[in-house]
Amino acid sequence: MRLVLLGPPGAGKGTQAKRLSQHFGVAHISTGDILRVNVRQGSPLGKEAAGYMDRGELVPDALIIRMVEERLHAPDCQKGFLFDGFPRTIPQAEALDALLDAQRQPLDRTVNIVVPDEVLVERATGRRTCPACGAMFHIRFDPPRQAGICDQCGAQLVQRQDDTEETVGNRLRVYHQQTAPLIDYYRRKGLLAEVDGRQTIDAVEETILAALRG
Ligand code: AP5
Repeated sequence: MRLVLLGPPGAGKGTQAKRLSQHFGVAHISTGDILRVNVRQGSPLGKEAAGYMDRGELVPDALIIRMVEERLHAPDCQKGFLFDGFPRTIPQAEALDALLDAQRQPLDRTVNIVVPDEVLVERATGRRTCPACGAMFHIRFDPPRQAGICDQCGAQLVQRQDDTEETVGNRLRVYHQQTAPLIDYYRRKGLLAEVDGRQTIDAVEETILAALRG
């Protein structure tokens, strides 16, 4: 299974990608997660990306495409993969097509998780993540059993630096200008499935699985 999950910031791409990659036994490739690891480690890529991320802007295409090409060569991608947060621009989508054509491994589907902007701000600003194991929570919609503590490993939960109201507003503007055109790009290729992301987390997963069966 080779999938792309599309959707605005806070739509639930990461939440669903974790579930779906386990369900299908494929690699979960989140460009945002790879970038955040690089920023934490202070790598050259992380140093270059950090400013863009803090402002809620996109990291330049050339850096992202190189990073994804490298990731696709990892052994865990042989059984398939699920992209979460990539592609984000038409040039990224064209580069992905070229990479996959060269490997004769075309995409199976692209799933767009549709959520209106007014819901997204609350989703993103209420998100809390575990720096130790990567588990994700929401203070209102998916709270941990003990406030601020990870259910899975007991570490202290943190808020992402770009999850402030101001930066989320900028990320949404960038999404509408640069990423939303991908919806038509994949529709024209006959690959697009659209899913209502306002449902509960379980219901969104069920709807995606049904769309992929259909
Ligand atoms: P990235 O990490 O990709 O962030 P994003 O796309 O803005 O998406 P989010 O991670 O904010 O949201 P999500 O859709 O994954 O939602 P989630 O499941 O977490 O990118 C960050 C930055 O890195 C970018 O701004 C850019 O600078 C850079 N970058 C990354 N990729 C790039 C690329 N390809 N090109 C250029 N730059 C790139 O859910 C959000 C919250 O809502 C959680 O708390 C969750 O528990 C909750 N929730 C989820 N589903 C539901 C539901 N159904 N009901 C209620 N609550 C829900």
